[in-house]
Amino acid sequence: MCGIVGYVGKQKAATLIIEGLKRLEYRGYDSAGVAVWQNGHIEVAKKTGRVANLEKEAARHKLTGTTGIGHTRWATHGGVTDANAHPHVSSDGRIALIHNGVIENYASMKKFLAGKGYTFASETDTEVLCNLIAYHYAKEPEVAGENRLLDSVRKTLRHAHGTYGIVVLAVDRPGELVTARKGSPLILGIGDGENLVASDVAAIVSRTQSVVYLKDGEIALLTAGSFSISTLDETDVTPVIDKVTWSISDAEKGDYAHFMEKEIFEQPVALENAMRGRFSEDGSTAQFGGLNITPAEFRQIERFMFCACGTALHACMVTEHQIERFARMPVECDYASEFRYRNSPLFPNTLFFVMSQSGETIDTLAALREAKRKGYKVLAVNNVVGSTIAREADGGIYQHVGPEVGVASTKAFTSQLLIGAMLALYIGRMRDLSFGAGVRMVNALKGAPDLVRKALEQAPHIRAIAKRYAHHTDMLFLGRLSLYPIALEGALKLKEISYIHAEGYPAAEMKHGPIALVSEKCPSVFLAPQGEIFSKILSSMQEIKARKGPIIAVVTEGTELPAGLADEIITIPACEEIVLPIVASIPVQLLSYYIAVERGCDVDKPRNLAKSVTVE
Ligand code: AGP
Ligand code: GLU
Repeated sequence: MCGIVGYVGKQKAATLIIEGLKRLEYRGYDSAGVAVWQNGHIEVAKKTGRVANLEKEAARHKLTGTTGIGHTRWATHGGVTDANAHPHVSSDGRIALIHNGVIENYASMKKFLAGKGYTFASETDTEVLCNLIAYHYAKEPEVAGENRLLDSVRKTLRHAHGTYGIVVLAVDRPGELVTARKGSPLILGIGDGENLVASDVAAIVSRTQSVVYLKDGEIALLTAGSFSISTLDETDVTPVIDKVTWSISDAEKGDYAHFMEKEIFEQPVALENAMRGRFSEDGSTAQFGGLNITPAEFRQIERFMFCACGTALHACMVTEHQIERFARMPVECDYASEFRYRNSPLFPNTLFFVMSQSGETIDTLAALREAKRKGYKVLAVNNVVGSTIAREADGGIYQHVGPEVGVASTKAFTSQLLIGAMLALYIGRMRDLSFGAGVRMVNALKGAPDLVRKALEQAPHIRAIAKRYAHHTDMLFLGRLSLYPIALEGALKLKEISYIHAEGYPAAEMKHGPIALVSEKCPSVFLAPQGEIFSKILSSMQEIKARKGPIIAVVTEGTELPAGLADEIITIPACEEIVLPIVASIPVQLLSYYIAVERGCDVDKPRNLAKSVTVE
C-alpha cells in the first residue's frame, strides 16, 4: 500500500517529494513524512493524517536539502501515531528509511539488535529493518570501488523475510539514495541532472517521463547524475528505460469535486479506449494483441479459472457468467487470497486469468505465481502498464483507461467488464457462436460508450434519490444472473465510500434468510432490467414490498411497474445482454457516490482503505 518518493538532484527535495506524496496519497493516508539530508545531518518531519498536515509540519523544519525521501503510510505494524510514521531513523542516527510492505521476521531481528544496543522509538517492522541496515553499515569496511551503503543494504535484505519496497538515505553519504524491492512496486524516474524513485509513476511524471521498472530482487543506487541497478547477489543489471505515455493532467481531477466523480463520467471515453483496435476486420469477433497464445493453443483449452480481489473479482464473476453463456465453456472464479492457500485440484487444459487494475495487488500476484508454479499459463487483465502482474503474466490485455485515482474503482471496473465480454465473444467465436451472433455482439459492444452516456444522464435524478436515502444504515442490492455480481459491486461501493452496511444478493435468495433484514428502515436496490427472468424479479420485489421494504428499482426505459411497487425508479437504456452489466453499473456507482457525498464522506480516500493492497 503506501506511497514512496525519493529525490536526488539540485532542487529542494522536500517540495518535490511532498508534491509527489499528494499524488500518491490514495495509496495510504494514515500518516506522511519526509527526511532530507542537509548540513551534515538528516532532518525528519512526519505527522499522522493527510499530506496537508505534513506540509505544515515540514514548513517548521525548513527543509532545504536536495536529497530526500518521503512516505504516506497504510499502517500494518503499530498504530497510527507520529512515532510510527515513516521515515524511520536508526538509533545511531546514521540511516533513514521508508518502507512499503511487511518484514515478517522483524521480531527476531529486533531481539538481535536490542542485544547489540540498538533502541526503538516505534512499534513498526520498518524501524527494525532500518536499524539492521545501520548495524551492517557500522560493521562494513570502506573498500575502494565499492559502495558501503549498497553493500550493507544487500546484507540486510538477505536476512529479511516478507515484502518490501525501500529507499535508504545515510547521514554520511549526501547525494545518494539506495532503493530495493521485493513484492512492492518501485519505479525509477530518470531525469536531467536529477533522479527519482517512487512506488507509482504518478509521483514522477511531473519531472520526467523516462522510467525504469525495478524488478523483485533488484537494488539500485541513485545519485543526481547517475543510476545503477544490480541484484541482491551482486549481478549487474542492464536497465531498460521505458516512456510513460500519460501526462500529469490525466491524474488531476479538473473541475470535478472528486476523482471518483471524474472517473464515473469518464467511462464512455474509457470504454472507447479499452476497445480501440480490438475488433476483427469482418466485425464478428474480438482480437487481442498480447495474449501470447495462438488460436490453435486456445482451442485446446477446456476450462478457465479467474482470480482477483474486490471489485476486480466482481468483474471476473460477470465474465464467468458470459463465457459460460456465450462460449459454453466452464469457468471457475475465486478470491485470489483464498486460491493461493486452498491448494485446490486443478484440471489439465485450464487457462488462468487474473484481473487487477493496479497490477500490484499482492494476493492476486500470489495467485498468479501459484498457478504458474503448478505449470499453468496465466494471462492478466490489468490497467497499469509495466505493473508487476503485467510483467509476470504470460500474456494479457491492458485496460488502457488511464490512471484511476479514486480508491473506489469505477472506470477500471467497467473496462474489465468490457474486456471480459470481448473475451466471451472471442472464445465463443472459436467454438459455436455463429458469424451473425458475433456481428450482433460486436455492434452491441461498440454501442456501449453511448449507452453509458445515456445512463449517466440520470445523474441529477439519482442525486435527488441519494438525498432521500443517505440517512439509512443498511441497504440491500439485488440482481440476478450477470447482474448478481453488479449487485455485489453496488453493495461494495456503498460500504467502502459511505460506511453504510450493505449486502448484495441474488434476488431469489432473499427468502432463504436475508429477507429477515427487510423493514421500512432497510431499502433494497433492485437491478430489474427487461429480460428472460424479469417477471421473477418482479415477484421478489413484491415479497419485499409486502414486508414494507422501500424499493429503488433500476429498470429498462419504458418499463411499467405495477403501481406502488417501487418507491423510486431509475431507468437505463434498453441494450443487448452482453453490455447489460456495464450499463447497469452506472446507476449503482452514481447512487453510492451521491449518498457518500450527502453524508459528507471523504469519497476518494475512504477510511481504513488504500488504493492498491500490496500487503497480505
Ligand atoms: C475497489 O473499489 C476496491 N477499492 C478494491 O476492492 C479493489 O478493487 C481491489 O483491492 C483490487 O484491486 P486491483 O484491481 O488493483 O487488484
Ligand atoms: N509495515 C510498515 C508499517 O506498518 C509499512 C506499511 C506500509 O506499507 O505503509 O509502518
